[in-house]
Amino acid sequence: MKKSINSLLMLALVAGIFTSCNNGKTNKNGDRGALASSAAEKVYVAPGEHDEFYAFFSGGYSGNLTVYGLPSGRMFKEIPVFSQFPTNGYGYSEETIPMLNTSHGFVPWDDLHHPDISQTNGKLDGRWIFVNGNNTPRIARVDLETFETEEIIEVPNSAGNHSSSFITENTEYVVAGTRFSVPVPQQDIPINEYKGKFKGALSFISVEQETGRMDIKFQLMMPGFDYDLSHPGRGKSHGWFFFTTYNTEEANTLLEVNASQNDKDFIAAVNWKKIEEYVNNGGGTKMPANYAHNVYDHGTHNATTTMKKEVLTVDPTKVPGAVFFLPTPKSPHGCDVDPTGSYIIGNGKLSADLTVHSFDKMIDAIENEKFDGEAYGIPILSFEDILAGTVKQAGLGPLHTEFDGKGNAYTTFFISSELVKWNIETREVIDRQPNYYSVGHVMIPGGNSAEPFGKYAVSMNKITKDRYLPTGPELEHSAQLFDISGEKMELLLDFPTHGEPHYAAGIPADILAPKSKKIYKLEENEHKYATLTSEDARVERDGKEVHIYMSMIRSHFTPDNIEGIKVGDKVYFHITNHEQDFDVPHGFAMIGANNAELLIMPGQTKTLYWEPKQVGVWPFYCTDFCSALHQEMQGYIRVSPENSDIELSWSLGE
Ligand code: CUA
Repeated sequence: MKKSINSLLMLALVAGIFTSCNNGKTNKNGDRGALASSAAEKVYVAPGEHDEFYAFFSGGYSGNLTVYGLPSGRMFKEIPVFSQFPTNGYGYSEETIPMLNTSHGFVPWDDLHHPDISQTNGKLDGRWIFVNGNNTPRIARVDLETFETEEIIEVPNSAGNHSSSFITENTEYVVAGTRFSVPVPQQDIPINEYKGKFKGALSFISVEQETGRMDIKFQLMMPGFDYDLSHPGRGKSHGWFFFTTYNTEEANTLLEVNASQNDKDFIAAVNWKKIEEYVNNGGGTKMPANYAHNVYDHGTHNATTTMKKEVLTVDPTKVPGAVFFLPTPKSPHGCDVDPTGSYIIGNGKLSADLTVHSFDKMIDAIENEKFDGEAYGIPILSFEDILAGTVKQAGLGPLHTEFDGKGNAYTTFFISSELVKWNIETREVIDRQPNYYSVGHVMIPGGNSAEPFGKYAVSMNKITKDRYLPTGPELEHSAQLFDISGEKMELLLDFPTHGEPHYAAGIPADILAPKSKKIYKLEENEHKYATLTSEDARVERDGKEVHIYMSMIRSHFTPDNIEGIKVGDKVYFHITNHEQDFDVPHGFAMIGANNAELLIMPGQTKTLYWEPKQVGVWPFYCTDFCSALHQEMQGYIRVSPENSDIELSWSLGE
């Protein structure tokens, strides 16, 4: 019977049948809210006015992060992280190509899932936002003054880097957990030797507080389960980290059946402070590894790659009292900790009830050694001993929970396609609102901190269907904004999102906006190939390699006529934007360039590589409409045959 319910739920999960039921039964605009005249007023941000919150949405398979304003739902920027981005040349310019280096070579794409904003004392501080690359495991740090990716570290011994990237309450660590367990170290063994041989690495990446620089402090080598999501403890539970697991069956084939056999999987509770102490005292085993650490420097405007060759691993059984398993029903997905740090909520994907574990009860059970067996030497606590309670029949297919800081939790239900508000202490359902359609994550600004800003909640829906004008078979996903300031939630707005937002992170605009950088100072430009005055503009040949030192200012390039380039040359355009005003970028495009254009910010130097293949006189131009004379911002390169003896020359205005 149990199994058949599971199968039914799974069928619904796959087919989304509850979704279409919803569509038929309820008002397309929600039961209330969006049709009320006040909804429009609540999202209306008048022309020239600013939004109250920034919201950073993961781009999923776009590999990027998108920046929106709330409550308007207006998109401000797409920040390239794990993907090449022709809009500004990220991943194409010589300076940024190293950002995408990995142990697998240059990997210009990834699947970005979970943004998390840095914190101090459990409060959002707005220094950085961390994001994970799911496919080729990486963690990136985006600077929130420049809104640019500054650092990417690859995570070895990991695969499907999904329980990532979540930070501890003083940004001591950004944590990355493997979803797929793999042989550690990687080796050539039969797949069916999975059980017992594969490992699940949970990586604790330290964050240097002044610079944000990341380094893998240690990897906890856990049993070969799937580690799905994670969240830090906070307040009283600061020092702990919680990871949901599924496939505790350790199946290696047909997981949709074989990984749903156990009635309960686990939430792994990790006392990272204890492990940190163990490691600081010389504990752990150094193991050979190979992973890339890429850092972008705003002084030199250049990224560099360092290949790291070693990682410190920790066997959890060697640190007694550091790791415990909390039994949690039905293949839990979301793993969320309330703002006080007292409750750990596990959302069993195949369950109708939500499990709320008590941190106090967990500590009590640990201290009294009330264990209910062990798995691979890790003690399992008894479900009844640690349970605070359950939210009964809240919906179908619970995924993620966020908090408003007023004692309420908001859980998304994928199958029944709704957002459900419930009281954390009484675990009674207060309100439910349909979502269109099949909601994944929900985000409340600061919802993953000790101090959420409980004014809005945004649902990120997996299915769009009829919410917008059709655009052929491929649709953008749809987000829905709710006013959660009252007892009942009120649907205010639908807006399309880019790629597939898995999670998002929101922060009040007044924390970020005042410190947002406007220009790069030319006098601070330490780029090796910068052209700091137009008199320095020149062209240098070194064998087949040609370096063009070029500057740009409204509305010309210096130089704008270059001769003596030959077919087969390797030409580098090093272009420095001499503007020192806010919002005066220039672009650069060279005919036949088979990479991208460049968008160069005031004071910045960027480099485009070009191989001239055809004899002739070839134009280049500015791609960004920078002044009334933008169309005049152009130049020519004369390309001669390979054996030509035409000397290099360059000029402007001659
Ligand atoms: Cu410079 Cu258009």
